[in-house]
Amino acid sequence: GITGQDGSYLAELLLEKGYMVHGIKRRSSLFNTDRVDHLYQDPHDPNQRFKLHYGDLTDAMNLTRIIQETQPDEIYNLGAMSHVAVSFDTPEYVGNVDGLGTLRILEAVRILGLEKKTRIYQASTSELYGGMSENKNERGFYDELSPFYPRSPYGVAKIYGFWITKNYREAYNMFACNGILFNHESPRRGETFVTRKITRAVAKIALGLQEKVFLGNLEAKRDWGHAKDYVRMMWMILQAEQPEDWVIATGVTTKVREFVRLAFSEVGIEVEFKGEGVDEKAYVKAIDQEKYSEATGLRYPKPGEGNNEKRPAKNGLPAIGQEVLSVDPSYFRPTEVDLLIGDPTKAKEELGWVPEYDLASLVKDMMQGDVLLMKKDAFLLKAGHEILKQAE
Ligand code: NAP
Ligand code: GDD
Repeated sequence: GITGQDGSYLAELLLEKGYMVHGIKRRSSLFNTDRVDHLYQDPHDPNQRFKLHYGDLTDAMNLTRIIQETQPDEIYNLGAMSHVAVSFDTPEYVGNVDGLGTLRILEAVRILGLEKKTRIYQASTSELYGGMSENKNERGFYDELSPFYPRSPYGVAKIYGFWITKNYREAYNMFACNGILFNHESPRRGETFVTRKITRAVAKIALGLQEKVFLGNLEAKRDWGHAKDYVRMMWMILQAEQPEDWVIATGVTTKVREFVRLAFSEVGIEVEFKGEGVDEKAYVKAIDQEKYSEATGLRYPKPGEGNNEKRPAKNGLPAIGQEVLSVDPSYFRPTEVDLLIGDPTKAKEELGWVPEYDLASLVKDMMQGDVLLMKKDAFLLKAGHEILKQAE
Protein backbone atom coordinates (compact mmCIF):
# COMPACT_ATOMS: atom_id res chain seq x y z
CA GLY A 1 0.00 0.00 0.00
CA ILE A 2 2.99 2.34 -0.36
CA THR A 3 1.36 4.19 -3.27
CA GLY A 4 -1.69 5.03 -1.13
CA GLN A 5 -2.32 7.94 1.22
CA ASP A 6 -0.97 6.28 4.37
CA GLY A 7 1.78 4.36 2.61
CA SER A 8 3.30 7.55 1.25
CA TYR A 9 3.35 9.31 4.63
CA LEU A 10 4.64 6.18 6.38
CA ALA A 11 7.45 5.78 3.82
CA GLU A 12 8.52 9.38 4.50
CA LEU A 13 8.50 8.76 8.24
CA LEU A 14 10.52 5.55 7.98
CA LEU A 15 13.08 7.14 5.67
CA GLU A 16 13.47 10.01 8.16
CA LYS A 17 14.17 7.39 10.81
CA GLY A 18 16.90 5.83 8.69
CA TYR A 19 15.02 2.73 7.49
CA MET A 20 15.56 0.96 4.18
CA VAL A 21 12.02 1.00 2.75
CA HIS A 22 10.70 -1.64 0.35
CA GLY A 23 7.22 -1.04 -1.07
CA ILE A 24 4.91 -3.02 -3.30
CA LYS A 25 3.31 -1.30 -6.26
CA ARG A 26 0.77 -2.76 -8.62
CA ARG A 27 1.39 -2.97 -12.34
CA SER A 28 -0.83 -0.41 -13.96
CA SER A 29 -1.14 0.82 -17.53
CA LEU A 30 -0.46 4.35 -16.29
CA PHE A 31 1.99 5.62 -13.69
CA ASN A 32 0.44 5.10 -10.25
CA THR A 33 3.22 6.36 -8.01
CA ASP A 34 2.35 10.08 -7.78
CA ARG A 35 2.29 10.05 -4.00
CA VAL A 36 5.80 8.63 -3.67
CA ASP A 37 7.53 10.00 -6.77
CA HIS A 38 9.33 12.57 -4.61
CA LEU A 39 10.92 9.66 -2.69
CA TYR A 40 12.15 7.83 -5.80
CA GLN A 41 15.86 7.03 -5.82
CA ASP A 42 17.93 5.92 -8.75
CA PRO A 43 18.57 2.16 -8.36
CA HIS A 44 22.21 2.86 -9.29
CA ASP A 45 22.60 5.03 -6.20
CA PRO A 46 24.81 2.97 -3.83
CA ASN A 47 22.90 4.47 -0.86
CA GLN A 48 19.46 3.59 -2.16
CA ARG A 49 17.02 3.31 0.77
CA PHE A 50 13.72 3.33 -1.11
CA LYS A 51 12.82 0.52 -3.45
CA LEU A 52 9.58 -0.43 -5.18
CA HIS A 53 8.74 -4.01 -6.20
CA TYR A 54 5.93 -5.09 -8.49
CA GLY A 55 3.36 -7.18 -6.65
CA ASP A 56 -0.19 -7.77 -5.60
CA LEU A 57 -1.95 -8.95 -2.46
CA THR A 58 -3.76 -11.59 -4.51
CA ASP A 59 -0.46 -13.27 -5.48
CA ALA A 60 0.93 -15.39 -2.65
CA MET A 61 4.05 -16.48 -4.56
CA ASN A 62 4.94 -12.93 -5.38
CA LEU A 63 4.51 -11.81 -1.75
CA THR A 64 6.53 -14.73 -0.45
CA ARG A 65 9.38 -14.04 -2.87
CA ILE A 66 9.53 -10.34 -1.99
CA ILE A 67 9.52 -11.12 1.73
CA GLN A 68 12.23 -13.74 1.23
CA GLU A 69 14.38 -11.32 -0.79
CA THR A 70 13.98 -8.37 1.57
CA GLN A 71 13.96 -10.20 4.96
CA PRO A 72 12.00 -7.32 6.56
CA ASP A 73 12.18 -6.36 10.24
CA GLU A 74 8.74 -4.78 9.94
CA ILE A 75 5.84 -5.22 7.52
CA TYR A 76 3.03 -2.66 7.36
CA ASN A 77 0.08 -4.14 5.46
CA LEU A 78 -1.67 -1.01 4.22
CA GLY A 79 -2.72 -2.52 0.90
CA ALA A 80 -6.46 -2.75 0.36
CA MET A 81 -9.35 -1.88 -1.87
CA SER A 82 -10.25 0.72 0.72
CA HIS A 83 -13.44 2.32 -0.60
CA VAL A 84 -16.50 1.20 1.34
CA ALA A 85 -19.07 2.12 -1.34
CA VAL A 86 -17.04 0.42 -4.11
CA SER A 87 -16.82 -2.74 -1.99
CA PHE A 88 -20.54 -3.31 -2.62
CA ASP A 89 -19.72 -3.47 -6.36
CA THR A 90 -16.62 -5.68 -5.99
CA PRO A 91 -17.31 -7.87 -2.94
CA GLU A 92 -15.38 -10.96 -4.03
CA TYR A 93 -12.30 -8.96 -4.99
CA VAL A 94 -12.39 -7.13 -1.66
CA GLY A 95 -12.62 -10.42 0.22
CA ASN A 96 -9.61 -11.67 -1.69
CA VAL A 97 -7.42 -8.57 -1.27
CA ASP A 98 -8.45 -7.14 2.10
CA GLY A 99 -9.18 -10.45 3.80
CA LEU A 100 -7.08 -13.20 2.25
CA GLY A 101 -4.30 -10.77 1.32
CA THR A 102 -3.61 -10.36 5.04
CA LEU A 103 -3.39 -14.13 5.47
CA ARG A 104 -0.95 -14.39 2.56
CA ILE A 105 1.47 -12.02 4.27
CA LEU A 106 1.21 -13.71 7.66
CA GLU A 107 1.62 -17.16 6.15
CA ALA A 108 4.59 -16.08 4.02
CA VAL A 109 6.38 -14.81 7.13
CA ARG A 110 5.63 -18.10 8.89
CA ILE A 111 6.67 -20.34 5.99
CA LEU A 112 9.93 -18.42 5.64
CA GLY A 113 10.68 -18.91 9.34
CA LEU A 114 10.67 -15.17 10.04
CA GLU A 115 8.15 -15.33 12.93
CA LYS A 116 10.68 -14.12 15.46
CA LYS A 117 12.28 -11.48 13.24
CA THR A 118 9.44 -9.76 11.39
CA ARG A 119 6.91 -7.55 13.16
CA ILE A 120 3.61 -7.09 11.31
CA TYR A 121 1.16 -4.18 11.36
CA GLN A 122 -2.33 -4.84 9.98
CA ALA A 123 -4.42 -1.84 8.86
CA SER A 124 -7.67 -2.61 10.64
CA THR A 125 -10.48 -0.11 10.72
CA SER A 126 -13.31 1.51 12.64
CA GLU A 127 -15.58 0.07 9.93
CA LEU A 128 -15.40 -3.13 12.01
CA TYR A 129 -17.75 -1.54 14.56
CA GLY A 130 -20.34 -0.67 11.95
CA GLY A 131 -21.61 2.25 13.98
CA MET A 132 -23.99 0.13 16.08
CA SER A 133 -24.90 2.46 18.94
CA GLU A 134 -25.53 -0.35 21.45
CA ASN A 135 -21.89 -1.44 21.11
CA LYS A 136 -20.33 1.79 22.37
CA ASN A 137 -18.63 1.79 25.77
CA GLU A 138 -20.20 3.42 28.82
CA ARG A 139 -18.56 6.74 27.86
CA GLY A 140 -20.15 6.64 24.40
CA PHE A 141 -17.07 5.64 22.35
CA TYR A 142 -15.79 2.57 20.52
CA ASP A 143 -12.67 1.12 22.12
CA GLU A 144 -10.52 -2.01 21.94
CA LEU A 145 -13.20 -4.06 23.74
CA SER A 146 -16.26 -2.94 21.75
CA PRO A 147 -17.97 -5.69 19.74
CA PHE A 148 -17.79 -5.66 15.93
CA TYR A 149 -20.71 -5.51 13.48
CA PRO A 150 -19.38 -4.70 9.97
CA ARG A 151 -21.85 -3.17 7.52
CA SER A 152 -20.16 -3.58 4.12
CA PRO A 153 -18.19 -6.18 2.15
CA TYR A 154 -15.15 -4.02 2.98
CA GLY A 155 -15.88 -4.23 6.70
CA VAL A 156 -16.52 -7.96 6.51
CA ALA A 157 -13.24 -8.57 4.63
CA LYS A 158 -11.36 -6.41 7.13
CA ILE A 159 -12.80 -8.40 10.02
CA TYR A 160 -11.14 -11.49 8.59
CA GLY A 161 -7.90 -9.51 8.40
CA PHE A 162 -8.31 -8.47 12.03
CA TRP A 163 -8.95 -11.97 13.38
CA ILE A 164 -6.36 -13.78 11.28
CA THR A 165 -3.75 -11.30 12.53
CA LYS A 166 -4.79 -11.93 16.13
CA ASN A 167 -4.89 -15.66 15.52
CA TYR A 168 -1.36 -15.79 14.10
CA ARG A 169 -0.16 -13.78 17.08
CA GLU A 170 -1.71 -16.26 19.49
CA ALA A 171 -1.04 -19.47 17.52
CA TYR A 172 2.55 -18.79 16.44
CA ASN A 173 3.66 -16.17 18.95
CA MET A 174 4.20 -13.64 16.18
CA PHE A 175 4.54 -9.90 16.78
CA ALA A 176 1.41 -9.14 14.73
CA CYS A 177 -0.75 -6.14 15.67
CA ASN A 178 -3.96 -4.50 14.54
CA GLY A 179 -4.28 -0.74 14.43
CA ILE A 180 -8.03 -0.05 14.55
CA LEU A 181 -7.83 3.31 12.88
CA PHE A 182 -10.72 5.71 12.56
CA ASN A 183 -11.01 7.88 9.44
CA HIS A 184 -7.90 9.85 8.65
CA GLU A 185 -7.56 12.32 5.84
CA SER A 186 -4.99 14.66 4.27
CA PRO A 187 -4.25 16.56 1.08
CA ARG A 188 -3.18 13.14 -0.29
CA ARG A 189 -6.54 11.49 0.46
CA GLY A 190 -8.06 9.61 -2.50
CA GLU A 191 -10.33 11.93 -4.48
CA THR A 192 -13.50 9.87 -4.03
CA PHE A 193 -13.56 9.80 -0.21
CA VAL A 194 -15.98 12.35 1.13
CA THR A 195 -13.55 14.85 2.71
CA ARG A 196 -11.34 15.12 -0.36
CA LYS A 197 -14.34 15.18 -2.67
CA ILE A 198 -15.56 18.16 -0.66
CA THR A 199 -12.27 20.07 -0.48
CA ARG A 200 -11.61 19.58 -4.20
CA ALA A 201 -15.11 20.72 -5.11
CA VAL A 202 -15.05 23.72 -2.77
CA ALA A 203 -11.69 24.83 -4.19
CA LYS A 204 -13.07 24.55 -7.73
CA ILE A 205 -16.27 26.39 -6.82
CA ALA A 206 -14.26 29.18 -5.17
CA LEU A 207 -12.14 29.58 -8.30
CA GLY A 208 -15.13 29.48 -10.62
CA LEU A 209 -14.16 26.14 -12.19
CA GLN A 210 -17.27 24.29 -11.02
CA GLU A 211 -20.77 25.33 -10.04
CA LYS A 212 -21.86 22.74 -7.50
CA VAL A 213 -21.16 19.35 -5.93
CA PHE A 214 -23.38 16.30 -5.42
CA LEU A 215 -23.01 14.33 -2.19
CA GLY A 216 -24.80 11.44 -0.49
CA ASN A 217 -25.63 11.13 3.19
CA LEU A 218 -24.94 14.49 4.88
CA GLU A 219 -26.05 13.14 8.28
CA ALA A 220 -23.24 10.57 8.61
CA LYS A 221 -20.83 11.29 11.45
CA ARG A 222 -17.13 10.49 11.34
CA ASP A 223 -14.16 10.77 13.69
CA TRP A 224 -11.70 12.49 11.34
CA GLY A 225 -7.97 12.81 12.09
CA HIS A 226 -4.90 13.65 10.01
CA ALA A 227 -3.08 10.79 8.25
CA LYS A 228 0.32 12.19 9.30
CA ASP A 229 -0.58 11.71 12.98
CA TYR A 230 -1.93 8.22 12.29
CA VAL A 231 1.09 6.80 10.45
CA ARG A 232 3.25 7.86 13.41
CA MET A 233 1.05 5.63 15.53
CA MET A 234 1.50 2.70 13.14
CA TRP A 235 5.23 2.90 13.75
CA MET A 236 4.78 3.27 17.53
CA ILE A 237 2.55 0.18 17.58
CA LEU A 238 5.38 -1.91 16.15
CA GLN A 239 7.88 -0.44 18.65
CA ALA A 240 5.69 -1.37 21.65
CA GLU A 241 6.94 -3.97 24.10
CA GLN A 242 4.10 -6.38 23.42
CA PRO A 243 2.08 -7.10 20.26
CA GLU A 244 -1.43 -5.78 20.86
CA ASP A 245 -4.40 -4.15 19.13
CA TRP A 246 -4.89 -0.40 19.38
CA VAL A 247 -7.67 2.10 18.67
CA ILE A 248 -6.47 5.32 17.03
CA ALA A 249 -9.00 8.14 16.88
CA THR A 250 -9.54 11.77 17.89
CA GLY A 251 -12.58 11.20 20.11
CA VAL A 252 -14.51 13.91 18.24
CA THR A 253 -17.23 13.17 15.71
CA THR A 254 -18.59 15.52 13.05
CA LYS A 255 -21.33 15.38 10.43
CA VAL A 256 -20.51 15.44 6.73
CA ARG A 257 -22.64 18.61 6.48
CA GLU A 258 -20.41 20.35 9.02
CA PHE A 259 -17.28 19.35 7.11
CA VAL A 260 -18.81 21.04 4.04
CA ARG A 261 -19.45 24.19 6.05
CA LEU A 262 -15.89 24.25 7.41
CA ALA A 263 -14.36 23.73 3.96
CA PHE A 264 -16.32 26.63 2.43
CA SER A 265 -15.45 28.79 5.42
CA GLU A 266 -11.73 28.30 4.67
CA VAL A 267 -12.22 30.26 1.44
CA GLY A 268 -14.41 32.91 3.06
CA ILE A 269 -17.72 31.50 1.81
CA GLU A 270 -20.60 31.06 4.24
CA VAL A 271 -23.13 28.46 3.12
CA GLU A 272 -26.62 27.77 4.40
CA PHE A 273 -28.47 24.48 4.09
CA LYS A 274 -32.16 24.37 3.17
CA GLY A 275 -34.57 21.49 2.68
CA GLU A 276 -34.49 17.98 4.05
CA GLY A 277 -33.39 14.49 3.00
CA VAL A 278 -32.84 14.12 -0.73
CA ASP A 279 -34.15 17.68 -1.26
CA GLU A 280 -31.52 19.29 0.94
CA LYS A 281 -29.32 21.86 -0.79
CA ALA A 282 -26.66 24.36 0.19
CA TYR A 283 -26.50 27.96 -1.03
CA VAL A 284 -23.91 30.73 -0.78
CA LYS A 285 -25.13 33.07 1.97
CA ALA A 286 -22.24 35.49 2.29
CA ILE A 287 -18.68 36.01 1.10
CA ASP A 288 -15.98 37.45 3.32
CA GLN A 289 -14.01 39.29 0.65
CA GLU A 290 -10.81 39.56 2.66
CA LYS A 291 -10.75 35.89 3.61
CA TYR A 292 -11.71 34.90 0.08
CA SER A 293 -8.86 36.92 -1.42
CA GLU A 294 -6.37 35.66 1.13
CA ALA A 295 -7.27 32.03 0.41
CA THR A 296 -7.59 32.18 -3.37
CA GLY A 297 -5.32 35.05 -4.36
CA LEU A 298 -8.29 36.49 -6.32
CA ARG A 299 -10.03 39.75 -5.57
CA TYR A 300 -13.78 39.43 -5.11
CA PRO A 301 -15.51 42.46 -6.69
CA LYS A 302 -17.25 44.77 -4.24
CA PRO A 303 -21.02 45.35 -4.72
CA GLY A 304 -21.49 47.74 -7.58
CA GLU A 305 -18.12 46.83 -9.10
CA GLY A 306 -19.00 43.51 -10.57
CA ASN A 307 -22.69 43.04 -9.87
CA ASN A 308 -22.15 39.95 -7.70
CA GLU A 309 -25.73 38.84 -7.59
CA LYS A 310 -26.21 38.64 -11.35
CA ARG A 311 -22.81 37.19 -12.11
CA PRO A 312 -23.26 33.81 -13.83
CA ALA A 313 -21.69 31.19 -11.62
CA LYS A 314 -20.29 29.10 -14.46
CA ASN A 315 -16.77 30.19 -15.31
CA GLY A 316 -17.29 33.11 -12.95
CA LEU A 317 -16.68 33.65 -9.26
CA PRO A 318 -19.21 32.22 -6.80
CA ALA A 319 -22.30 34.37 -6.41
CA ILE A 320 -24.51 35.04 -3.41
CA GLY A 321 -27.48 32.68 -3.56
CA GLN A 322 -25.69 30.19 -5.83
CA GLU A 323 -26.73 26.58 -5.24
CA VAL A 324 -23.44 24.84 -4.45
CA LEU A 325 -24.57 21.43 -3.18
CA SER A 326 -27.33 18.91 -3.83
CA VAL A 327 -27.96 15.43 -2.51
CA ASP A 328 -27.66 12.60 -5.02
CA PRO A 329 -29.13 9.37 -3.61
CA SER A 330 -26.87 7.30 -5.87
CA TYR A 331 -24.14 7.98 -3.29
CA PHE A 332 -26.20 6.33 -0.54
CA ARG A 333 -24.91 2.92 0.53
CA PRO A 334 -27.05 -0.24 0.79
CA THR A 335 -26.11 -0.33 4.48
CA GLU A 336 -24.61 2.75 6.11
CA VAL A 337 -22.38 3.28 9.12
CA ASP A 338 -24.16 6.23 10.72
CA LEU A 339 -21.73 7.23 13.42
CA LEU A 340 -18.10 6.58 14.35
CA ILE A 341 -16.31 7.94 17.39
CA GLY A 342 -13.24 6.31 18.90
CA ASP A 343 -11.57 6.27 22.28
CA PRO A 344 -7.76 6.51 21.86
CA THR A 345 -7.04 6.49 25.63
CA LYS A 346 -4.99 3.28 25.50
CA ALA A 347 -2.74 4.58 22.69
CA LYS A 348 -2.30 7.93 24.41
CA GLU A 349 -1.56 6.54 27.84
CA GLU A 350 0.54 3.50 26.94
CA LEU A 351 2.34 4.69 23.81
CA GLY A 352 2.36 8.43 24.50
CA TRP A 353 0.60 9.37 21.26
CA VAL A 354 -0.03 13.10 20.91
CA PRO A 355 -1.77 14.08 17.65
CA GLU A 356 -0.70 17.41 16.17
CA TYR A 357 -3.82 18.13 14.11
CA ASP A 358 -7.44 18.76 15.06
CA LEU A 359 -10.37 18.97 12.64
CA ALA A 360 -9.91 22.70 11.99
CA SER A 361 -6.21 22.35 11.08
CA LEU A 362 -6.99 19.24 9.01
CA VAL A 363 -9.59 21.11 6.94
CA LYS A 364 -7.20 24.05 6.55
CA ASP A 365 -4.40 21.77 5.33
CA MET A 366 -6.69 20.04 2.83
CA MET A 367 -8.21 23.26 1.55
CA GLN A 368 -4.83 24.93 1.09
CA GLY A 369 -3.64 21.88 -0.87
CA ASP A 370 -6.67 21.81 -3.14
CA VAL A 371 -6.82 25.55 -3.78
CA LEU A 372 -3.20 25.36 -4.90
CA LEU A 373 -3.96 22.34 -7.08
CA MET A 374 -7.02 23.90 -8.70
CA LYS A 375 -5.21 27.17 -9.29
CA LYS A 376 -2.90 25.23 -11.61
CA ASP A 377 -5.99 24.17 -13.59
CA ALA A 378 -7.29 27.74 -13.66
CA PHE A 379 -3.90 28.89 -14.93
CA LEU A 380 -3.86 26.26 -17.68
CA LEU A 381 -7.39 27.09 -18.78
CA LYS A 382 -6.57 30.78 -18.90
CA ALA A 383 -3.62 30.01 -21.12
CA GLY A 384 -5.89 28.09 -23.50
CA HIS A 385 -4.87 24.55 -22.46
CA GLU A 386 -7.17 21.65 -21.67
CA ILE A 387 -7.43 20.17 -18.18
CA LEU A 388 -8.24 16.61 -17.15
CA LYS A 389 -11.93 15.88 -16.61
CA GLN A 390 -11.67 13.93 -13.38
CA ALA A 391 -15.05 13.33 -11.78
CA GLU A 392 -15.87 11.82 -8.42
P1 NAP B 1 -5.57 4.03 -0.12
O1 NAP B 1 -5.09 5.44 -0.30
O2 NAP B 1 -6.76 3.56 -0.83
O3 NAP B 1 -4.32 3.07 -0.47
C1 NAP B 1 -4.49 1.70 -0.60
C2 NAP B 1 -3.21 1.10 -1.12
O4 NAP B 1 -3.41 -0.30 -1.33
C3 NAP B 1 -2.73 1.66 -2.45
O5 NAP B 1 -1.33 1.72 -2.45
C4 NAP B 1 -3.23 0.64 -3.44
O6 NAP B 1 -2.51 0.60 -4.65
C5 NAP B 1 -2.98 -0.62 -2.63
N1 NAP B 1 -3.69 -1.78 -3.16
C6 NAP B 1 -4.99 -1.86 -3.56
N2 NAP B 1 -5.27 -3.09 -4.01
C7 NAP B 1 -4.13 -3.80 -3.92
C8 NAP B 1 -3.76 -5.12 -4.29
N3 NAP B 1 -4.64 -5.97 -4.83
N4 NAP B 1 -2.49 -5.52 -4.05
C9 NAP B 1 -1.58 -4.67 -3.53
N5 NAP B 1 -1.86 -3.40 -3.20
C10 NAP B 1 -3.12 -2.97 -3.38
O7 NAP B 1 -5.83 3.74 1.43
P2 NAP B 1 -5.29 4.52 2.74
O8 NAP B 1 -6.28 5.56 3.11
O9 NAP B 1 -3.87 4.88 2.55
O10 NAP B 1 -5.44 3.38 3.83
C11 NAP B 1 -4.38 2.47 4.07
C12 NAP B 1 -4.94 1.21 4.73
O11 NAP B 1 -5.58 1.55 5.95
C13 NAP B 1 -5.97 0.47 3.91
O12 NAP B 1 -5.82 -0.90 4.18
C14 NAP B 1 -7.30 0.96 4.46
O13 NAP B 1 -8.30 -0.01 4.27
C15 NAP B 1 -6.94 1.12 5.92
N6 NAP B 1 -7.68 2.13 6.67
C16 NAP B 1 -7.76 3.41 6.20
C17 NAP B 1 -8.40 4.38 6.94
C18 NAP B 1 -8.51 5.80 6.46
O14 NAP B 1 -9.34 6.53 6.99
N7 NAP B 1 -7.68 6.24 5.53
C19 NAP B 1 -8.96 4.05 8.21
C20 NAP B 1 -8.82 2.74 8.66
C21 NAP B 1 -8.17 1.79 7.90
P3 NAP B 1 -2.91 1.59 -5.88
O15 NAP B 1 -2.31 2.93 -5.51
O16 NAP B 1 -2.27 0.95 -7.03
O17 NAP B 1 -4.40 1.65 -5.94
N1 GDD C 1 -17.36 8.69 -0.51
C1 GDD C 1 -18.45 9.45 -0.30
N2 GDD C 1 -18.93 10.21 -1.33
N3 GDD C 1 -19.04 9.42 0.91
C2 GDD C 1 -20.11 10.23 1.11
C3 GDD C 1 -20.62 11.05 0.11
C4 GDD C 1 -20.01 11.03 -1.18
O1 GDD C 1 -20.42 11.71 -2.11
N4 GDD C 1 -21.67 11.74 0.62
C5 GDD C 1 -21.80 11.36 1.89
N5 GDD C 1 -20.87 10.43 2.20
C6 GDD C 1 -20.75 9.74 3.49
C7 GDD C 1 -20.66 8.23 3.39
O2 GDD C 1 -21.96 7.66 3.21
C8 GDD C 1 -20.03 7.90 4.75
O3 GDD C 1 -21.03 7.83 5.73
C9 GDD C 1 -19.15 9.11 5.03
O4 GDD C 1 -19.53 10.13 4.10
C10 GDD C 1 -17.65 8.84 4.87
O5 GDD C 1 -17.44 8.21 3.62
P1 GDD C 1 -15.96 7.98 3.04
O6 GDD C 1 -15.19 9.25 3.08
O7 GDD C 1 -16.10 7.28 1.75
O8 GDD C 1 -15.26 7.06 4.14
P2 GDD C 1 -15.77 5.79 4.95
O9 GDD C 1 -16.01 6.23 6.36
O10 GDD C 1 -16.85 5.08 4.26
O11 GDD C 1 -14.48 4.84 4.89
C11 GDD C 1 -13.17 5.37 5.15
O12 GDD C 1 -12.88 5.25 6.53
C12 GDD C 1 -12.79 3.91 7.03
C13 GDD C 1 -12.47 4.02 8.52
O13 GDD C 1 -13.64 4.28 9.24
C14 GDD C 1 -12.18 4.57 4.28
O14 GDD C 1 -10.93 5.20 4.36
C15 GDD C 1 -12.04 3.14 4.77
O15 GDD C 1 -10.98 2.50 4.05
C16 GDD C 1 -11.70 3.17 6.27
O16 GDD C 1 -11.57 1.86 6.77
